[in-house]
Amino acid sequence: MQDATYADLELVADEIRACTACPLHRSARQAVPGHGSGESGIFFLGEAPGYHEDLQGKPFVGAAGQFLDELLAGIGLDRRKVFITNVVRHRPPENRDPLPEEVAACDIWLRRHLEVLRPRVIVTLGRHAMGKFFPGESISRIHGRPRRTADGLVIFPVYHPAAALHQPGLRDALVADFAALALYLATPAPVKTEETEEKPAEQITLFG
Ligand code: URA
Repeated sequence: MQDATYADLELVADEIRACTACPLHRSARQAVPGHGSGESGIFFLGEAPGYHEDLQGKPFVGAAGQFLDELLAGIGLDRRKVFITNVVRHRPPENRDPLPEEVAACDIWLRRHLEVLRPRVIVTLGRHAMGKFFPGESISRIHGRPRRTADGLVIFPVYHPAAALHQPGLRDALVADFAALALYLATPAPVKTEETEEKPAEQITLFG
């Protein structure tokens, strides 16, 4: 039997499929609402559906998705136990970057997903997803460490798997980010209310 969270996620997915809040729904084949479950409390937020995602209606099913699966498996996580979505739920034409107004129009779905799932940690994949929580920040500065927002959400920014596929240096950084994520997940999160960086995972282990 499916639980209430599953039913709520299906409801949100249906609403996203009917969404016409920005022009992207006109050029996309279909919406890509999100996939997975809230079982692990881990929520992955990517950038936008690409060609394969648009075709299948599921996030991260192309080359970047295969790499994401490898990274998840590397830290003992199964895709079915995490939730994966993007900052925009329709594919931008020619895979261009989503425009700020498209991201803003899609905000409501991020809020709805977070209300339903109440994740323990939100892992942002790439700069667009990071920018939702820390606008103006640089991903090269804050990746690989948990950081809490003023609203009490724990955000763990990492590089985007697609960027890492094309830049070998980023690939190593992303693998290291996932190792740091695993370490963070294995330790109780320190509670902080102000908008400051949390201690790096190694320090949390030692002093948390
Ligand atoms: N890249 C993303 O950011 N999201 C996807 O769903 C696929 C590739």
